[in-house]
Amino acid sequence: MSAEIIADPDVLEEEYIPPSLPCRDSQRIKLVYCLSPFKHRIRPYDCLCHGPPGTGKTALVKYVLDQIRENTTALSFYVNCWENRTLNLILERLAEQASVVISEVSYSVKIARLKKKLKNKICVIALDEVDKLDRKDLNDVLYVLKELGKVGIVCISNTRKYVITLDPRITSRLNFRSINFPRYSDDELLIILKHRIENCRALYPNTYSKKILEKIAELAAGDARVAIQTLRSAAYNAERAKKSKIMETDVDKGYEAVKEIKRKYELERLTPHHKLIIGILKKRKEISSTDFYNLYKREADKQGMLAKSRRSFNNYLADLIELNYIKIERAKVRGNVRLFKAI
Ligand SMILES: Nc1ncnc2c1ncn2[C@@H]1O[C@H](COP(=O)(O)OP(=O)(O)O)[C@@H](O)[C@H]1O
Ligand SMILES: [Mg+2]
Repeated sequence: MSAEIIADPDVLEEEYIPPSLPCRDSQRIKLVYCLSPFKHRIRPYDCLCHGPPGTGKTALVKYVLDQIRENTTALSFYVNCWENRTLNLILERLAEQASVVISEVSYSVKIARLKKKLKNKICVIALDEVDKLDRKDLNDVLYVLKELGKVGIVCISNTRKYVITLDPRITSRLNFRSINFPRYSDDELLIILKHRIENCRALYPNTYSKKILEKIAELAAGDARVAIQTLRSAAYNAERAKKSKIMETDVDKGYEAVKEIKRKYELERLTPHHKLIIGILKKRKEISSTDFYNLYKREADKQGMLAKSRRSFNNYLADLIELNYIKIERAKVRGNVRLFKAI
């Protein structure tokens, strides 16, 4: 008899938003508080949701936007800035969501049409992955969106630093309330996994043990995406092998598969500049912090790419360090020289 483990495959997919998000009550309350001025027809506060990947930022913001849509007359918008990296594309997505038809190419027409549509309405615009925009683009985007009407902006970002160092012309208009999304503890991941399995009915009863879930929670190291995807992959492994329960070996295999997928996904999301930097570093054993930017500029010129500013370059380096492509060592010389190495 073939064993069945997965009761509802949709519940284990990335896009699924559960009916409630356990372990994120304090963030939900803060976000709702920031946005709540619209009840009195006052512009909502702007806020910045920040934290490492897999900590529920996108899920929580989408959840709250859904609630706004269902329960209020305020308009709400969601744009992923990784997929829409220019002001023009972001305006197009907003126009689509506001059902404004725009065939013109010019910014000013787009902005004027949107302004007309949003006039006197309270709106919340969520910008996901804002740290993937160039700093100049982010400044322009925030400036233009704030001009559209009574707009509260929710920025979502891995790092807080990036957003709090904006142009003064922006920071004088925006006063971000900051909402932190820390990594989940093992116990919290356990609650999230159980919630997904039992409340959302992802798996049939008696197809998993507490021990298996504890193992997944530990491997996921605070990342709910990795936890749920590992569970998903382990469940498929066990089902394929016609087992009646998920075993430890299924979890090990599942986790390996997820790690590989995560790496590929990260790599796909790197910009050509990130890739150029990795390439430069791979050709040498190590590069000192004083030489690195010039090497990058030279190589970018050679490849016909427009070199980014030193500030953007430093942001790229920070991304690559965070993603474990690069490590940093202190040079054994005087001063503040650091050495970069490929991993
Ligand atoms: N508190 C939570 N409860 C239930 N599922 C969660 C929770 N936090 C994250 N998830 C799930 O984990 C995955 C990653 O969450 P996501 O919001 O995309 O993370 P982030 O945007 O911080 O990278 C999604 O499938 C999401 O549904
Ligand atoms: Mg996200």
